[in-house]
Amino acid sequence: MNKPQSVDLVIHGGTIVSDTHQFAASVAIDNGLIVAVGADHTMPAATERFDASGLHLLPGAIDVHVHFRDPGYDYKETWESGTAAAAMGGTTTVFEMPNTHPPTADPAAVADKLERAHSNAYVDFGVYGLLAENNVDQLEALAEAGVIGYKCFMGNTFGNLPSPSTGAMLEAFERIAPLGLRTSLHAETASIMAWRYERLKAAQRNDALAHVAARPSVVAVEAVARAAILSEWSGARIHVLHVSSGAELRPMAEAKARGVDITAETCPHYLRFNTDDYARLGSVIRVNPPVREAHDSDALWRGLADGTLDMIATDHAPHLPEEKHNDVIWDADCGFPGVETQMSLMLDSVNAGQLSLCDYVRISSVAPARAWGLHPAKGRIGVGADADIALVDMARAETIDQNMLHSVNARISPFHGMRVTGVPVHTLVGGRFVMRDRRLVAEARGQGRNVKRIQNMPAADVRNADRTLAAELARAPGAAS
Ligand code: NCD
Ligand code: ZN
Repeated sequence: MNKPQSVDLVIHGGTIVSDTHQFAASVAIDNGLIVAVGADHTMPAATERFDASGLHLLPGAIDVHVHFRDPGYDYKETWESGTAAAAMGGTTTVFEMPNTHPPTADPAAVADKLERAHSNAYVDFGVYGLLAENNVDQLEALAEAGVIGYKCFMGNTFGNLPSPSTGAMLEAFERIAPLGLRTSLHAETASIMAWRYERLKAAQRNDALAHVAARPSVVAVEAVARAAILSEWSGARIHVLHVSSGAELRPMAEAKARGVDITAETCPHYLRFNTDDYARLGSVIRVNPPVREAHDSDALWRGLADGTLDMIATDHAPHLPEEKHNDVIWDADCGFPGVETQMSLMLDSVNAGQLSLCDYVRISSVAPARAWGLHPAKGRIGVGADADIALVDMARAETIDQNMLHSVNARISPFHGMRVTGVPVHTLVGGRFVMRDRRLVAEARGQGRNVKRIQNMPAADVRNADRTLAAELARAPGAAS
């Protein structure tokens, strides 16, 4: 019999959590991969044995919605600071948004962004390509360039990128459908918001709640329903970002029931806050879409429990503190950092009985891994998977302090001062510690990898292929046959 080879690391004494089970076991890691899970006496010899007594091992969180601002707005955040924040929050993979400058709208912009990510990232990453009014002809080239999927701003937001008309969106969906990639939607309809904003501003409604008045839930409901119809017609996969209202759950559930390949996320701020918090937080809570009524938060919790909402993401949207503070709500930047605090906030909710730890693993890791074809390499602690692990202490209590955030230029958080129980204490990405004992491991910078290498999307389900704009143009008199 061969002498058992020594592996890089064995983590022992902890409790492994999947979306269905919790069990005490050791994990052996070699070359970035999990090579064994089982009783400690069955583990191979290891260069390092790490004692995880009292801790739970979760597959690292996959946050499909972060804005790292680099290139173009690196005074707010960079790939280095954003991925450091992720590592500190137990998040091992991030998908980064294209509203940078220049926007990630063509292959050159993707190449530039991937280079920045490769040299700086502490965690694994995917990069979204933009789907806008004026770059529909770039979508195939963006796929070639290595995007994880597309981002479509149905309503204007930071960066003011041109939201596509419904016509441009349909052609885009027709072109994306055969590629099998998923398109993530900021589902708020631009024209409704612009109409109300102009009138409210003219009437000098400058209070924080005027932001909610400009974008009532119908703005989102209309956009979700419309996007689902285009997805159903074309077969393009979609994902609804930052679901903020209970009213969006109906078009979501109906689309799922019709067999549309649609997934959805909500974010901790929609679960934790409601309109009562505007008086206390003022413009700091300004975010698109807005935080809404208490009954919306309740509905979103129910949506997570019944599967209408698939996952949790953060919409990590850092801005400078001075950009967030303004007595005129329209002049305060929208969004705030979230990637570092998501796991603690959600584990605190686990401790409070709002969801189980297995539910949390499902919505933070398994569901996003499946929706973007990263499963089974990610989203699980099992043999053959990437060793992306968050080791969490469910009994540890901490007070969220915005001054400690690793988003060093954007140290402003509506969660500041909240007491949470349940904290990630160590994070591994690809078998390497990126956070150890609540400290960033500086040497891990630049080790993150592009997750595009492991796309396992199921085959595309293209619909109405003979009725697409391209198919009809091919029937034009001058078209080459
Ligand atoms: C985001 C940002 O600042 O980039 N802001 C926000 O309020 N959510 C953009 C977005 O996701 O809409
Ligand atoms: Zn958005």
